[in-house]
Amino acid sequence: MKKKILITGGTGYIGSHTTVELIEAGFEAIIIDNLYNSDADVINNIFKITGVRPHLEVLDLCDKENLKRFIGQNKDISAVIHFAAFKAVGESVIKPLDYYRNNLLSLINLLEVMKHFAISNLVFSSSCTVYGQPEKLPVTEDTPLQPATSPYGNTKQIGETIIKDTTISDINVKAISLRYFNPIGAHPSALIGELPRGIPENLVPYLTQTGYGLRDELKVFGNDYNTPDGSCIRDYLHVVDLAKAHVVAIERLTAGRNKANYEVFNLGTGRGVSVFEAIKSFEHVSGKKLKYKVVGRRAGDIEKIWADPSFANKELGWKTLSSLDEAMKTAWDWEKFIRQKKQQL
Ligand code: WQD
Repeated sequence: MKKKILITGGTGYIGSHTTVELIEAGFEAIIIDNLYNSDADVINNIFKITGVRPHLEVLDLCDKENLKRFIGQNKDISAVIHFAAFKAVGESVIKPLDYYRNNLLSLINLLEVMKHFAISNLVFSSSCTVYGQPEKLPVTEDTPLQPATSPYGNTKQIGETIIKDTTISDINVKAISLRYFNPIGAHPSALIGELPRGIPENLVPYLTQTGYGLRDELKVFGNDYNTPDGSCIRDYLHVVDLAKAHVVAIERLTAGRNKANYEVFNLGTGRGVSVFEAIKSFEHVSGKKLKYKVVGRRAGDIEKIWADPSFANKELGWKTLSSLDEAMKTAWDWEKFIRQKKQQL
């Protein structure tokens, strides 16, 4: 019998890639999504990749009664992966209450309903934003957390605390928080990927849209940082590598191989890449010269951060396999795919 995994936010960027990897690893995947920031058509593309059409329940996790009804119909769920959340850093500064309400209420409802039905395994989608600008690099799981620089980041910190406290209060609950560094790229099939609404906030979708001619030029936010080429440094990892880490985390929990009831893992490559290096990688894989201009620093940006992924390497037996160029190439292929598809519509 296949183990049934519930994926909240399963039609979103990381959720859809994780759903594909779970299906390919032999799990049954069922999805809850309110389609606020994603498209039901993603299910068709998951089907094209895997030959399996996961059940999609269009449901808002803030609607607890409806959530209870749905999970009550699926009491045999072995574990939950919780992706569903608002995720735009800038927007969260403008609409903090929306972010606190949505991201925290949905998590609390989920935990309460899981408890009600004695579903005990949870993987939580966390973020390297919980570290703020760390004093020492690379970042390990023991690096002290700094105060969050945005309401979004704060919902991830508070979310982790809520989950940790729940595992302390109830020894039946087991959870893993995965702290993602910067996921980029798309599935090699180019059938699923990131679909930013409007003008992208993140570097790689902005790069690929500029390369495609949708944006005039990329603005590089600052070249006067204390880094080798003056631009900010991040740890960009391929979204498929990231998705695979969720499968390993689920296997660890469902097989009872976890070493504590609450565990945290950094998911990154261990390599810091500057904005200028990311531009070079894009130019290399696309064969295009990118138009860009250096402008002032972006408020709230961290100068440099990259992961020490050795704990995940050792404990989960997971490491990233794709290079920056490979990940960038899939981002570019995806950009071309969605633009051609939009032209056909
Ligand atoms: C990367 C670098 C920018 C756009 C993201 C998520 C955040 C969190 C962590 C999940 C920075 C520079 C960007 C542009 C640029 N993820 N840049 N021009 O800031 O690390 O945050 O990862 O929780 O939610 O947003 O990623 O892609 O926005 O920026 O020069 O047009 O690219 O200054 O140095 P960031 P990003």
